[in-house]
Amino acid sequence: MSKITITINGREIAAEPGSTILRAAQSANIYIPTLCHNEELNPYGSCRLCMVEITQKNRRRMVASCIYEVAGGLEVQTETDRVASVRKLVIELLLTRNPYSATLKEIAARVGVEKSLFEDDQKGCILCGQCVRVCREVVGVSAIGYKGRGFTREVATPFDGPAVDCIACGSCSFICPVDVIPMKEKDGIRTIWKTEFPLQNCKECGREFAPIKQLDYFRNNYNLPENHFDTCIHCR
Ligand code: FES
Repeated sequence: MSKITITINGREIAAEPGSTILRAAQSANIYIPTLCHNEELNPYGSCRLCMVEITQKNRRRMVASCIYEVAGGLEVQTETDRVASVRKLVIELLLTRNPYSATLKEIAARVGVEKSLFEDDQKGCILCGQCVRVCREVVGVSAIGYKGRGFTREVATPFDGPAVDCIACGSCSFICPVDVIPMKEKDGIRTIWKTEFPLQNCKECGREFAPIKQLDYFRNNYNLPENHFDTCIHCR
């Protein structure tokens, strides 16, 4: 299918039909900060950090670039005063939730924010939803979700109890941009979401290499032979 031409900051850019402003900007090395966006997940558009200004049919407005589809003749501005002030406000609000995150501090510095003017509430989680989405969309498990609304909203296991559906793959912890999902391994146990998961030992080298529940999940879902995960990747 032929490409669509849009302009970003006055530059003509050829974009794939169906792609987003964010993707078009990234393909042209134009910086737009993001937090809830992840190429491996479905578009979400919750953090609003990626807002840009567009002009279409003589109408000017702000849109979230990670979910806004390109269209012929679209004019995009990523560096206007309005865009800058939205970015600053969003990152200041996110910094109140997690003033220590290296990722947030890096973005803040890049968009010209030294410190949030709002009072810290230090919740840690910024509610970008990447953990919930990777669990549901990529792993296919939905072990975690949201609880509460508004200010009390947080990511949790069902009824805040043990993570019964979790397979301890760690995807949520790895994907979290602000590192607030702890996962640790000690004495043959991986602990995540306050739940303990025994690890499988390799039958060749003895090394612990993955949670037994995760291996069972793959074996059952992909019809793998019973002994498929007897050995680690190095001994196979
Ligand atoms: Fe676009 Fe979060 S990155 S809304």
